[in-house]
Amino acid sequence: MFKRISALIAVGATALTLAACGGGSVSDENAITLGFSQVGAESDWRTANTQSIHDSAQNWGVELHFAEGDQKQETQIEAMRSFIEQKVDVIAFSPVIESGWDEVLKEARDANIPVILTDRAIDSADKTLYRTFLGSDFVEEGRKAGRWLAEEFAGSGGPVNIVELQGTIGSAPATDRKAGFQEIISADAKFKIVESRTANFTRAEGKEVMEAILRDHRDIDVLFAHNDDMGIGAIEAIENAGKVPGKDIKIVTVDAIRDGMQALADGKINFIVECSPLLGPQLMDLAQRIVRGERVPARVVTEETTFTREQAEEVLSTRQY
Ligand code: AHR
Repeated sequence: MFKRISALIAVGATALTLAACGGGSVSDENAITLGFSQVGAESDWRTANTQSIHDSAQNWGVELHFAEGDQKQETQIEAMRSFIEQKVDVIAFSPVIESGWDEVLKEARDANIPVILTDRAIDSADKTLYRTFLGSDFVEEGRKAGRWLAEEFAGSGGPVNIVELQGTIGSAPATDRKAGFQEIISADAKFKIVESRTANFTRAEGKEVMEAILRDHRDIDVLFAHNDDMGIGAIEAIENAGKVPGKDIKIVTVDAIRDGMQALADGKINFIVECSPLLGPQLMDLAQRIVRGERVPARVVTEETTFTREQAEEVLSTRQY
């Protein structure tokens, strides 16, 4: 359904539909066009994020030009250049990695097209290259995982051997979650990261990488996976190795997608730090305000929580994604 740039999805809604959906305040004749470059489809989180953007564009009467990035920076840059050529009103993108965006963002600025960073940050020193950044505080997510671990092992002796499954190397969530987690656990010398490898945020690689790690290490106490998908893949590897996930190896992950929440309710994951993919409504609101010439905050942080097993059991039946 979500094809590359060639598959332009023009979502035109009537003013009547808008009123019915309670969305934005534009009518067809002044609907804005938004070019969105997505990372790819690496996780259930991403699928929910893509859905949220499509649904919200429709509800807000925004004409959406959507392009998949296949987890490749060059594909995303190509899509952004195409949006510039199409003269969209505003460009939003979720960058696969943090570095290397300045050139294309300068091209957008020269064409007077404002840019919104969505979900992930970039490391550019020039903050004038984009208007706002909407997304989670990934460092804080890593800290939350670390704080849970510190409490869980409070009073117990060491060492506590930790395996970390990182997201895509060079991406903001992988860098920041690692840093936040490290900041908390480094306060207690009993916590030792014995392996830290990337599994690119995917379930398949989570399984494969964990299998390899289990061959090298017998005494793993904890798995910190930067997202649920890698954690779920790793659970399979742990079970295949004859160990009990959640008991023999305690597991903490990030996202809170439905499958992750199910694993938490089943006791296979011990704690989940939420990262919300439902960014669509806020993105449409920001895009419309920017096009109207309004000032918007430079940073909009997504509100998020954490989940224990009991909390997962409570909300599972109504979980949207
Ligand atoms: O950028 C958000 C992260 O990207 C999510 O945690 C992960 O599941 C996704 O692939």
